[in-house]
Amino acid sequence: MIPKDCKRLAEVDFPIAEVSRHAAREKSIRHGHPSTLHLWWARRPLASSRAVLLALLWPDPCDPLCPASFKEKARELLPKIAGCDPGTSDADLRRALLRFIADFSNWDQAAAPHYLEVARALVKAAYPEETPLVVDPFAGGGSIPLEALRVGCEAFASDLNPVACLILKVLLEDIPRYGPTLADDVRRVGAEIKRQAEQELADLYPRDPDGATPIAYLWARTVQCEAPNCGAEIPLMRSFWLCKKARRKRALRLHIEPSGDGPPQIGFEIFTPKNDREVAAGTVKGARATCPACGAVLPPERVRAQLAAMRGGADVLFDDQGRRTGGARLLAVVTLRPGQQGRHYRLPNETDYLAVWRAQQRLAAILDEWERGGRQGLCPVPDEPLNPIRPSPNARGLSAVTRYAVSDFGELFTFRQKVALASFVRLHISAPTDHRNRTKLTGNIGGN
Ligand SMILES: C[S@@+](CC[C@H](N)C(=O)[O-])C[C@H]1O[C@@H](n2cnc3c(N)ncnc32)[C@H](O)[C@@H]1O
Ligand SMILES: [Zn+2]
Repeated sequence: MIPKDCKRLAEVDFPIAEVSRHAAREKSIRHGHPSTLHLWWARRPLASSRAVLLALLWPDPCDPLCPASFKEKARELLPKIAGCDPGTSDADLRRALLRFIADFSNWDQAAAPHYLEVARALVKAAYPEETPLVVDPFAGGGSIPLEALRVGCEAFASDLNPVACLILKVLLEDIPRYGPTLADDVRRVGAEIKRQAEQELADLYPRDPDGATPIAYLWARTVQCEAPNCGAEIPLMRSFWLCKKARRKRALRLHIEPSGDGPPQIGFEIFTPKNDREVAAGTVKGARATCPACGAVLPPERVRAQLAAMRGGADVLFDDQGRRTGGARLLAVVTLRPGQQGRHYRLPNETDYLAVWRAQQRLAAILDEWERGGRQGLCPVPDEPLNPIRPSPNARGLSAVTRYAVSDFGELFTFRQKVALASFVRLHISAPTDHRNRTKLTGNIGGN
């Protein structure tokens, strides 16, 4: 046991410049790095996590309280590593340990067996009675507990964010437990889920008669102009551009078509603009909507009120024959054509809306079944409330939708997206996994 008053290496010295260099280089490593498993924005480099852990775990050999058994083991093992000559004095040994820490922080040595063996043996020599437990309650992407496990500690990791917890579970429990076969199984099960989902959802994403596959549907929420004698439907569009790529410029052009006694109708065409000036400014700015037919401006509170009446307005309103009567409007459909490069843009047609109507019926049936089953378990589609108050100054994104009176997460999705989500969840839960009931690993990972 290291006496309480014995200094750790990190308290006397640390190879900051070299570890920083290796940490900076690690950012450009794409192959085989845990960061490729899932994006985590606050992930710390493994290089510095590994180096700091060792420098905090190992005692300083120059401290008179440093256990002799640790120094003996270090003198025995360090010569196995090029450049880590333990010399004869305690100061030489300290230099060699710091050299080891600096070199081991290099990504190229991170999995080298001789480095790992020496690191683990010296952690063991410093803590012969009990394996040290590294606790990281804010573990995020898991750099610290991962390196702790790798150098022979036990680790406890948790995080407030459920995405981080999932990353931690996969990184710290599943991968060490199942090894490379896990990746094969995920690919196999993923391919099967994809196949079944494509089959189940095919009629909601119909191909075009010419064989083109729609890959994106561009929608706009709509509100109604409240100016006297107008009543036109205003699609809320920040921009009329569809594609700004140099050789594939596409934009929408709006037409106002009078319709007898009724409100003016808004139609679109897709065209190839030569420059920015040919593309009209959007209809919405700062939640204020401008009517393209009469130029009246609908103030933010009226835009919000109209959208709130349509539960955020992400969905189409249909009559009972499946004809659109209002709500979200399809602006354009992006397609890929067999044998042709690039994306194509076309105006929407009745078949596009019919698919959405079918999705609406299907979603109603899914929710009905859940209701009849006594609302057991989670709702099949997201229904958690959205907090309209910005939880922290760093939280981005949600203020824009709460401005439009979106009040729960489900309202961020269209009928069709919700049906697809429900399919993915159901297929995922029922997917056969060989791994579910295997034994636990030694690392002790908690989480919420
Ligand atoms: C700087 S990041 C940690 C990065 C981590 N070391 C890594 O390498 O990925 C801070 C983490 O703290 C988490 N967090 C913030 N407040 C928390 C709280 N009250 N309880 C638990 N975790 C929290 C965040 O979700 C975030 O993942
Ligand atoms: Zn108007």
